[in-house]
Amino acid sequence: MKPLDVLMPAAGMGVVADLIVERLPLHRLWLEPDPEAWLAKHGPAIRAIASAGGHGRIDEALMRRLPKLEIVASFGVGYDHIDARWAGENGIIVTHTPGVLDDEVADVAMGLTIMAVRRLPQAERYLRAGQWLKASFPLTASLRGRTMGILGLGRIGKAIAHRAEAFGLSVVYHGRHAQPDVSYRFYPTLTGMAEACDILMVTAPGGSETRHIVNAEVLRALGPDGVLVNIARGSLVDEQAVIEALRSGAILAAGLDVFDNEPKVPTALIALDNVVLLPHVGSASVKTRHAMAQCLLDNLLAWSEDKPPLTPVRETPWRGAWGATGARRSAIAAAAEDKTARISAVVDIMKDLWDLPADCNEGELFAYAEQLCDRILAGESRDGLYAFLANVQGKSLEIPASDASRAIVDRSLDLIGASM
Ligand code: 8YV
Repeated sequence: MKPLDVLMPAAGMGVVADLIVERLPLHRLWLEPDPEAWLAKHGPAIRAIASAGGHGRIDEALMRRLPKLEIVASFGVGYDHIDARWAGENGIIVTHTPGVLDDEVADVAMGLTIMAVRRLPQAERYLRAGQWLKASFPLTASLRGRTMGILGLGRIGKAIAHRAEAFGLSVVYHGRHAQPDVSYRFYPTLTGMAEACDILMVTAPGGSETRHIVNAEVLRALGPDGVLVNIARGSLVDEQAVIEALRSGAILAAGLDVFDNEPKVPTALIALDNVVLLPHVGSASVKTRHAMAQCLLDNLLAWSEDKPPLTPVRETPWRGAWGATGARRSAIAAAAEDKTARISAVVDIMKDLWDLPADCNEGELFAYAEQLCDRILAGESRDGLYAFLANVQGKSLEIPASDASRAIVDRSLDLIGASM
């Protein structure tokens, strides 16, 4: 088995790190005293990222700093925190954990639906406050005779549909396309479906394509008896519009497990009595979270054994041993390796001629060296380069005001000239 060093940029679920560390070398970036310097020094050797949930973004800027990156294994089925398109275009595989959490999330979706329609949390609060001794809890709306409209009929949406049918609900759906093997009625527009249903169940993926698609118009179409349930991503829903609709009675109630800026939930939402709020617990059972972590690890282990990834996302389909994008990726990695080697050599020149201590902030130095190399490669004049470096003001570094900057430029020009 090839050693596959795994970088975990942010903490997330502890179970993920616990499982990985038993099988593969793991680097926990957030525990490093200077993550920037760590990345500058070790980033070029990293081939795998594990994203353990939480809110850390895996974007182009981070992936560019890891020129040998081959795989990003993510915890969870949604991966809107990863720039998967950029990864795909650059030959990096992204994997997620589909399948193992469908039933768990579907259970919570139905739980939220019943809680919101029958006002069960409010009824429980009523009892605890001793109100029952004075009067019965007011009658509520009902699930009987209702239609559930599912936005995004994927694996989780289907698991919810299955349960909704068992509860006697009619099911319809809206998505990018009608699914030929599905018997539920398809609505080509979301507003059209919202008009036709009573419970709008949001299960579509998050990301820029679906941002705020549940807006004021859709909520108006859902109507004063309508209930919104969201177990997918907060970004799909215009939260301000939901607050307004709940306040004004434009919809009856809502059940939300996810929020736009979680774990921060708007106080205006918390203040409302016709909404049930859960802290993103859809998949949060010990058993399911463990299965998700195992799926993430299995992807990394397969990769470390030169086997195909088990559950790649659609933007990074597996096309056989690296396939077309793989060849491109290898070329990019080789070029980046050259570039990193060049910049590291300039860092050494800077340390030497500026007489900086061995344990200085190499991350900051790396940034100056990278800019200097880019300017040299862009053909900037020697005088322009002198002026650039003479004006560099160290943030955490004490850069001496001396002629050393000119000597650094001269040596870097020689070095880069020689390596081209
Ligand atoms: C997890 C989820 O809570 O799978 C998903 O997309 O939203 C949840 O199951 C989340 O990934 C952990 O941060």
